[in-house]
Amino acid sequence: MRPENQVLVVFGSSGDLARRKLAPALEELGEQGRLPERFAIVGLGRAEMDPEVFAGVDAPFHYVRGDYGEASTYKELGEVLAKLDEEVGTAANRTFYLAIPPQIFSVVVGGLGEAGLAGDPADGFARVVVEKPYGHDLESAKALDECVHAVFGENDVYRIDHYLGKETVQNVLALRFANAIFEPIWNRRFVDHVQITVAESVGVGHRGGFYEEAGALRDIVQNHVLQVLALTAMEPPASIDSQGIRDEKVKLLRAVDVMSPEEVAANVVRAQYDEGLVEGSKVAGYRSEEGVAPDSETETYVALRLSVDNWRWAGVPFYVRTGKRLPRRVTEVALQFTRVPHLPFAAALSRGLGPNALVLRIQPDEGITLRFGVKVPGQSFEVRSASMDMDYDEEFGSEPAEAYERLLLDAMAGDPTLFIRSDEVHQAWRIVEPVLDAWQVKGDFPLCRYSAGTWGPRDADLLLARDGHRWREL
Ligand code: BG6
Repeated sequence: MRPENQVLVVFGSSGDLARRKLAPALEELGEQGRLPERFAIVGLGRAEMDPEVFAGVDAPFHYVRGDYGEASTYKELGEVLAKLDEEVGTAANRTFYLAIPPQIFSVVVGGLGEAGLAGDPADGFARVVVEKPYGHDLESAKALDECVHAVFGENDVYRIDHYLGKETVQNVLALRFANAIFEPIWNRRFVDHVQITVAESVGVGHRGGFYEEAGALRDIVQNHVLQVLALTAMEPPASIDSQGIRDEKVKLLRAVDVMSPEEVAANVVRAQYDEGLVEGSKVAGYRSEEGVAPDSETETYVALRLSVDNWRWAGVPFYVRTGKRLPRRVTEVALQFTRVPHLPFAAALSRGLGPNALVLRIQPDEGITLRFGVKVPGQSFEVRSASMDMDYDEEFGSEPAEAYERLLLDAMAGDPTLFIRSDEVHQAWRIVEPVLDAWQVKGDFPLCRYSAGTWGPRDADLLLARDGHRWREL
């Protein structure tokens, strides 16, 4: 079904996100005939608009150039929108997309509110789509909420975490709740531990200035990792709808243990990359990247041991790690199962046998792998691990669609299921903030170093070794 007739207003339409993600997603949706029948795009920004950005999208395009803090910008926007309603038939429906730096979210939302553009349900809808980061800690996230809720109802706020737009992330729910065979083993009795990895081979590129303020914990763990963890560990919802899923995610996040400074010291490892070799090329260290302070203390890698304190997961460690400039790009969730109670094979013949594991391959090689033991053909009873694989392209004949296609379409269609609700954001900050606070105490929490192109610092290996575990080799 196509979304209702509407105008998509893109704040920051000349920016990187609009160019790299939004315009290609809209083009693709247009080709598939999934854009609203009567549809227009209004770009808004401070700079000259590059006419090429939205040129490939099948929709009338208007550009409003202006300062985000000026009432005149919103007045002009209002006039353009009214004209489009009349000429194109966009029926006073608007989706406002904030592809702008977070510092100006509240300015823009306030501007829309004051100009009366946030809408009145009687004549059309007005939704706002907000990119991450949503706040930089719990307090600022709450302050932003206050400001947003003064203008938009929570139901009209679509907070993006683009990981939820990924097919493989949504498939965590299908795998868990469309199959009877996994349910009985999806708990502390059978799962020994869980590993979540979000590894990137890229560095910070031109985003050094932004990244200096963020770091790996805010940039990836607070949002993407905790979302994936919540979907992996939450209880089954009664139905796969926006309330069912989001209620369960919040419940799960509430069960994630908040760490004391001593626990942070014991369960969190942070690190920063030095120069090294990535995919055969020599790359600079983080401190030499553009926009980065030469004595920067920002972490580009973080590994944590999290506990989920509820009946299903008590005692099962959730190890998560993420980093830039690791050897390759790979995101996965691996459930490692308990060992058999007694191995009836000779030790010498079972060296190649690892624990059972179910690996949800989120990207780039999308699929699912089950690891189990098999007999090696031959006279002796040798056993070792083997894999059963499901691959998206083999199964469906194509790679999964880009996350932004799905998310844009859902926002325009008014389906908030794959967007982050305010209480989820708060819970995520509740988990992450004590770590950030502990790190403020100099000296107690070393910033380890790793060479670009390696799998992070030795301390991260020790974090698991202490429990008798090892990171999966990827
Ligand atoms: C973004 C982060 O949210 O996710 C980036 O800000 C990161 O630093 C990106 O590179 C990773 O996304 P993906 O889809 O490539 O895993």
